[in-house]
Amino acid sequence: MCGIVGYVGTRPALDVVVEGLARLEYRGYDSAGVAVLADGESDERELVTAKRAGKLVNLRNALDETPPPAGTLGMGHTRWATHGAPNDRNAHPHLDCSGKVAVIHNGIIENFAALRAELEENGHKLVSDTDTEAVAHLLEDELRDGGTLADAMRRVCGRLEGAFTLVAVHTGDPDLVVGARRNSPLVVGVGDGENFLASDVAAFIAHTRDAIELGQDQVVELRASGVTVTDFEGRPAEVKEYHVDWDVSAAEKGGYDYFMLKEIAEQPRAVADTLLGRIAADGRLVLDEMRITDQELREVDKIIIVACGTSYHAGLIAKYALEHWAGLPCEVELASEFRYRDPILSRSTLVIAISQSGETMDALMAVRHAREQHAKLLGICNVNGSTLPRECDGVLYTHAGPEVAVASTKAFLTQLVAVYLIALYIAQVRGTKWGDEVFAMIQLLAQMPEKVEKVLETMEPVRELARSLANERSVLFLGRHVGFPVALEGALKLKELAYMHAEGFAAGELKHGPIALIEEGLPVIVVVPPRARAVLHDKIVSNIQEIRARGARTIVIAEEGDETVEPFADTLIRVPAVPTLFQPLVTTVPLQVFACELATAKGHDVDQPRNLAKSVTVE
Ligand code: F6R
Repeated sequence: MCGIVGYVGTRPALDVVVEGLARLEYRGYDSAGVAVLADGESDERELVTAKRAGKLVNLRNALDETPPPAGTLGMGHTRWATHGAPNDRNAHPHLDCSGKVAVIHNGIIENFAALRAELEENGHKLVSDTDTEAVAHLLEDELRDGGTLADAMRRVCGRLEGAFTLVAVHTGDPDLVVGARRNSPLVVGVGDGENFLASDVAAFIAHTRDAIELGQDQVVELRASGVTVTDFEGRPAEVKEYHVDWDVSAAEKGGYDYFMLKEIAEQPRAVADTLLGRIAADGRLVLDEMRITDQELREVDKIIIVACGTSYHAGLIAKYALEHWAGLPCEVELASEFRYRDPILSRSTLVIAISQSGETMDALMAVRHAREQHAKLLGICNVNGSTLPRECDGVLYTHAGPEVAVASTKAFLTQLVAVYLIALYIAQVRGTKWGDEVFAMIQLLAQMPEKVEKVLETMEPVRELARSLANERSVLFLGRHVGFPVALEGALKLKELAYMHAEGFAAGELKHGPIALIEEGLPVIVVVPPRARAVLHDKIVSNIQEIRARGARTIVIAEEGDETVEPFADTLIRVPAVPTLFQPLVTTVPLQVFACELATAKGHDVDQPRNLAKSVTVE
């Protein structure tokens, strides 16, 4: 939600900032804006801003028409609107009354109405409907009382409630960009004679791979000569430096029309990378970053998984694996609901939070709630340096690489690998499965990259099918066991990309209501369990017959060699035969391809679906 870039150095700031915004546009695309301090000799510099509603291209066009003066210090913002309509006026940066302070913001300032009323009472003129603008005026007041922009920012942060990443510049501090964060992401890129601030390292990865992770409630002063980090009281803060293990090519489309297509194609590699280094020579699992001891794992008596959206679907699949291998009761919770109930947690509860971005506010709040109840916390996360891993006792990183398309694909498959690894690891530690059983599953898991590759090689008929269904109004998805979350995921992908009515159901629930939806020609995609799960398999074959008898157009995803489904499938999509618990790794891929192709056929931008943003940093 909202992308932020700041730069100070020797290059033209506008180029660096706009290039950074292009890499962050997945975070929001309601409007974009920049601010630059013009070069000059005086202590006070001209502050120039430009902003436009809509995608970044609108801002680029405006900048081409009226290029701002050259400057080596600047910042930029790409917005996902929360307060105020997505128009030019509400686009960031926002200025104070004097036009000397500019501010950009990601998050929600919850007490903004009170702050705004106070400012207006004191004579400030606010021109937008945003919460952000209040900060520019508060900084104006604080600067009048003396000190640098950083001093002013620290004092202002003390007055703000809610979630925020703020970046500000001031005409009177011509070599200083100030950033602050609470509950929203902000990372520093450390260059040679230049430094960067951004919501995500992707914004500066073309210039440096050395980064600093900022902690909660910290203020950063960014100068060309160096970086200083303090807490909101001005005390020096401890920071964690790290090196980003991917380069700029990973953040580019690499010849594909859309990031989503590239990310779907990268899945075999992403799955392989997530397994890498985790299987020792003797076949045992080694999860170094777990940081939860074997003794602590033996003491766990319940697991609760918290996550949102696609990550929640990974959590639903995790439940089957954890119960089966680790023999532990497992609940799966929508992170957004978790802390508003009274979940029963104790020191022996293990809470696993799954989040691609590591910045989803609902997931972070759920983790904090679990922390207060003294539960052990394990994160599954794709973004190094993000907030979630820092707030958990241990972490298992998925190595999907940067996921830029808003709809999650490769992150989902790697989350599945992570949950399989954790479930098998707990089984290994607690002895709930014999060593040779765990070993055998690990060997099979290691074969999954090639199975996913095989699925990708056979996707042309799925694409054709998707194009033929582009004018349908509704598609249903059915599954059983781990195929049920896959059905939910297939429906979510179709909703968010094709803007179509799509629903996933547990096939066993069909006769309890959803079968009433079946009408002549309605496409129903059915994920069939492996034949090895004979009872489930046969039951879903009956379900297919039941819906077909009522006119449904049946699109059946079944493993190779499963002939029983053939007579009842209008379209048959084959996937390699794999163990039941691993089947989501191969059955999800056709559903991703299906949704992507269907949405493309409708002319949608699959990387940036309407109303969505990649990382949901507000509740
Ligand atoms: C769907 C999608 C979202 C995310 C959800 C959680 O394609 O991408 O549903 O899965 O917003 O995001 P993370 O995993 O970053 O917490």
